[in-house]
Amino acid sequence: MSAQVVVCNGCCCGRVEKGHNEVPIDALKSAWDEHELHNQVKLTISGCLGPCSMHNVSLLKTENGLTWLGNLTEREHYDALIHWACDIAEGQGVDLPEILQERRFVRLQEVVIREQE
Ligand code: FES
Repeated sequence: MSAQVVVCNGCCCGRVEKGHNEVPIDALKSAWDEHELHNQVKLTISGCLGPCSMHNVSLLKTENGLTWLGNLTEREHYDALIHWACDIAEGQGVDLPEILQERRFVRLQEVVIREQE
């Protein structure tokens, strides 16, 4: 496993009833299946990762460390995550697409990942 994409679908991220944007869980899972990414990039749908104020949050784990992404408000952000994972799977490096570069934030606290079913 060379990388992991952790997509928060917790108490705030994706909670449309709280006025937040939906997290396209089914589309992400389908894309992982369609592109056969599971062996190279693990997709984890998680409970709250901690920084709720940055909803919607995702966390990328690579051999270079952790990259936090927040304010993923558009479907295009999640499509970019899929493209990034495809690039990783094809061994094309770990550079983030520009649309995700601008959504990076720094978080110093430890993260606890609670995987959802
Ligand atoms: S619900 Fe996503 S960070 Fe808390």
